[in-house]
Amino acid sequence: MIPKSFDVLGNIAILKFPEETRKSEKLKSAKQILKVHKSITTVLEKSDKIKGRLRTFKTTYLAGIKTKIASYVENGCRFRFDVEKTYFSPRLSNERNQLAKKIKKNEKVLVLFAGVAPFAIVIAKLAKPEIVYSVEINKNASKCAEENVKLNKLQNIRVIQGDSKKVIPKLVKQGIKFDRIVMPRAQLKETFLTFALKVIKKNGIINYYGFGKQESEILDEIERDVKKAGKKIKIINIKKAGNIAPYKYRWRVDFKVLN
Ligand SMILES: C[S@@+](CC[C@H](N)C(=O)[O-])C[C@H]1O[C@@H](n2cnc3c(N)ncnc32)[C@H](O)[C@@H]1O
Repeated sequence: MIPKSFDVLGNIAILKFPEETRKSEKLKSAKQILKVHKSITTVLEKSDKIKGRLRTFKTTYLAGIKTKIASYVENGCRFRFDVEKTYFSPRLSNERNQLAKKIKKNEKVLVLFAGVAPFAIVIAKLAKPEIVYSVEINKNASKCAEENVKLNKLQNIRVIQGDSKKVIPKLVKQGIKFDRIVMPRAQLKETFLTFALKVIKKNGIINYYGFGKQESEILDEIERDVKKAGKKIKIINIKKAGNIAPYKYRWRVDFKVLN
């Protein structure tokens, strides 16, 4: 039986089965998917949980063409990436579209935790801002980001591989500041806000992603770190941006930095 929901990354379907599922059942499902969904040419099984700072997971080959390279189209943009060596969530496609619609042509945008650059590329292509900086720690993801920028023929993106904590002080030294910072964080303890707040312009906007059951949890962590940085903010909007577990959500908080 085909699992009720599975991720499709263009040519690749990634299935997750209950632990007790027999190999023969998995292979049968995989073959069925190839038969029903003609655009899917590879079926993989997600064989462990998303782990660590890089948010990657292992897969096992089930059926079709033996590859881990996905070719995926979203919001009129093309992406190629290794599904095992990089993080990519097709579920954030709407988020990227919504954010791009808020951004103006004269903005300088910084995307932290940029992965293979889906936020940076959708924003650069749809909103056409002056420049988008894309910062990602994972070397494989950053290499894919560079290739994806070329694939989409975009001139207004700068990809920087490195830890946000080390990249931001370098930007500060160069006197670079941003009108907007997009923070599609992984579910990590650290907010990274004290760093982001060093390179945001006065009246700049931060689109911050946080995880929790209630919006108050996210507002509390923002308030704590904004205070630490000696900044003042005005919350513009808070919204759910997806489920990550039963009763646990990804939230997006948009706020203006007043000083
Ligand atoms: C949840 S993923 C988001 C990826 C991408 N924005 C997307 O939506 O596909 C978080 C990303 O942050 C990266 N990351 C984790 N810690 C980082 C750090 N200190 N500086 C820069 N990137 C980091 C991970 O490697 C991962 O690619």
